[in-house]
Amino acid sequence: METRDLFRILRLWSGVVLFSYVTTHLLNHTLGLISLGAMEQGAVLFKLLWYSPPATLALAGAFVIHVSLVFWSFYRRRSLKLRASEWLQIALGASIVPLGAVHVIGTRVAHEFAGLQDSYAFVFFALWYDGWIAVLKQFGLVIAAWTHGCIGLHMLWRLKPGYRRLQPLAFSIALLLPVLALIAFFQRGAEVAHLMHDRDWVQALVTNANVPSAEAAAPLFLADDIVEWGFGVLLLGVLAARLLRGLWERRHGLVRLYYPDDGTASGPAGPSILEFSRLAGIPHASVCGGRGRCSTCRVRIGRGRDRLPPPTPAEQKVLDRIGMPVHVRLACQVHPPPGEYDVTPLLPATAQARDGFARSSHHHGEEREIAVLFADIRGFTTMAEHRLPYDTVFVLNRYFRAMGEAIERAGGHVDKFIGDGVMALFGLDIDQQTAARQAIDAARRMALALDRLNESLSGDLDLPLRIGIGVHIGQAIVGELGYGATRSLTAIGDTVNTASRLESLTKEYACEVIVSDDAVAAAGMDLSEFPTHEIAVRGRSGLLVVRAIADGATLPEPPAAAPRQGRFAARPAPAKA
Ligand code: FES
Repeated sequence: METRDLFRILRLWSGVVLFSYVTTHLLNHTLGLISLGAMEQGAVLFKLLWYSPPATLALAGAFVIHVSLVFWSFYRRRSLKLRASEWLQIALGASIVPLGAVHVIGTRVAHEFAGLQDSYAFVFFALWYDGWIAVLKQFGLVIAAWTHGCIGLHMLWRLKPGYRRLQPLAFSIALLLPVLALIAFFQRGAEVAHLMHDRDWVQALVTNANVPSAEAAAPLFLADDIVEWGFGVLLLGVLAARLLRGLWERRHGLVRLYYPDDGTASGPAGPSILEFSRLAGIPHASVCGGRGRCSTCRVRIGRGRDRLPPPTPAEQKVLDRIGMPVHVRLACQVHPPPGEYDVTPLLPATAQARDGFARSSHHHGEEREIAVLFADIRGFTTMAEHRLPYDTVFVLNRYFRAMGEAIERAGGHVDKFIGDGVMALFGLDIDQQTAARQAIDAARRMALALDRLNESLSGDLDLPLRIGIGVHIGQAIVGELGYGATRSLTAIGDTVNTASRLESLTKEYACEVIVSDDAVAAAGMDLSEFPTHEIAVRGRSGLLVVRAIADGATLPEPPAAAPRQGRFAARPAPAKA
């Protein structure tokens, strides 16, 4: 296992232990909504769980590991140009020690080493006796520890596919638990503040708490000073170490990165490509914050590719998951040595977690054999001129829905709706024969769906809707095209143009569907009953033979699916012994 992976796992699990402690502690606080007695009862269970030697060891170990790894990762970061949410997470984490040191040493450590019986009543008494600053520090500690843990979990889970569904519930719990805990905290604190006027009650409380003498408490105060000052010194030490490292690296060779549109980033070797982007102010997607999980920072490397160190197993795993070719790397994981590199981020800076999920290679561009279907409503412009805009939109949406469903049921991908036209692709992840059969079947289903639609709209339409459909198969360039939110998977090339031409020829041949013989041959279907025509197509040396089908509903159903041959085909079952 890579050291980086080991650190990541340790950081995660130490965080989980600490967050479990905070969660159970806040749950204990919420019992204060019932009474102080209920809080004390809950504390018995809480202490049973967390004061045992193994739990104490786990908690102390998790704290030391978590804080050390946070310092280490702060040192390792080459760029401090972070997003606001990342700075918030760091600031919250860094405030936990100064806010919480006195509380932990004054309760848990004092319990272990000076025999203090740290009841809720005693803690409230100590806080309210100290004054509002101590109370506010406690309030800040709850907010900082809880929010820091919640952000950490959110960063971890947001890449999981099921998280979107659970997010509202998770957010509700994240909000409700600290609010209830703090209401209980202030209610019971006020109750104890009132009881503090009763000398006998105070005397009994102090006696029962077994408050250590000033002599016995002195090491605890010293420990508090050491922790708080030590934390500050450590923080400054890490900053100084970063500064020295920068000076040392400047004496060595430079890395120069060239981005599309003339963007450049340069500096001493050491930072990752993502950190170079950030240092140069070049927008770069990084949903997981550079942890090598989301894949949204992926870049294509041109010049200089050979000089890069090979991917670590962890990076390779992510690249394999999304099916990337060898020249694609995760920008957050590659630390280029001195030299010049051409770097092209593959996702927009606004990419979301879902954009990082597994994609087929055609998402970043490839040439492959696909079937393309074009459909268009005949005479719709004239029809629309005599209708109210609302009616036009209503009819069009019913039409798009019917056609979209027919295409998807046949197994196709609706590429786009253009005006009153539809473009669909078949064979993005499957073999050529299945693609052609699906496209012809889609034409049949669309014709049937149109009949049903005309029937249901008979009261709204003067004339039934009529469509023309063109189907062709061939090589096309498939990839994600567009910009920002309008970026989508589509196909370009002669095959697409030919399918569009066949659709427009349906007017000339007065038929509903035209299928190229290439598509018929690929499908292995018998359409010999339909008349043939030969047409000239731009970019093709010979004539293209096509079949004209007057009524698409008369197309035969495709034969039972042949075993899939594509990249995502099911594997044959192993032979039985
Ligand atoms: S930023 Fe998430 S993998 Fe690089």
